[in-house]
Amino acid sequence: MIQLAPSILAADLARLGEEVRACEEAGADRIHIDVMDNHFVPTLTMGPQTVAACRRSTSLPLEVHLMILEPDGILPEFVEAGAGLLTVHVEAVRQLHRTVATVHRLGVRAGVGLNPATPLSSIEDVLPEVELVLVMSVDPGFGGQAFLPAALSRLRRLRARISELGASCELEVDGGVVPENAGRCVAAGADVLVAGTAVFAAEGGPAQGVRCLLERIGRSGPPPAG
Ligand code: DX5
Ligand code: ZN
Repeated sequence: MIQLAPSILAADLARLGEEVRACEEAGADRIHIDVMDNHFVPTLTMGPQTVAACRRSTSLPLEVHLMILEPDGILPEFVEAGAGLLTVHVEAVRQLHRTVATVHRLGVRAGVGLNPATPLSSIEDVLPEVELVLVMSVDPGFGGQAFLPAALSRLRRLRARISELGASCELEVDGGVVPENAGRCVAAGADVLVAGTAVFAAEGGPAQGVRCLLERIGRSGPPPAG
């Protein structure tokens, strides 16, 4: 089943708990938390405290997208705060294999992200080791940017490579995902869609935003209980 991961970068942080609960009740599958360090990307956002605040607000899995340089030292704090998946950027770590191993040693799932201009070959050799690959469809750093259509062919090529290798990682797309392009992302091979603005700035609020995206990917609402 295709999964939807609302990014709280676009949420009203004064009402974070409520916003996250609205996503959960509307059928979102996990919560995406964008961590930015003002070095790898120009912005500064949230850290482990925000992950802990989400943990107190929802039982959904929390995935942390680390847009920070050399994150190894701070990884345990995110796990203690309740993250279940840590995604690092191939451009931001010097020894990707070691960082992925560190994430696994901490007992959580590991993802690797890559920017729109980074060759897919840079992560090919870690595909069998990670649980998720995150394809950026905008340059990271800000929410609300326009989707770069070249991401679709990158998703297709990665999906083909993942099958060729018999790897089992998820393929996630992040940046500018809106109801109008969600179906194309899925057709190109994405199985996890991240959406910030399309969820939290939706007319009618995040529950409406989640429902609208779920409809576009062929899911009409929360999965049946049990
Ligand atoms: C961008 C972040 C994305 C972003 C998505 O650097 O990684 O997760 O918040 O937001 P939208 O959906 O608004 O592009
Ligand atoms: Zn993100």
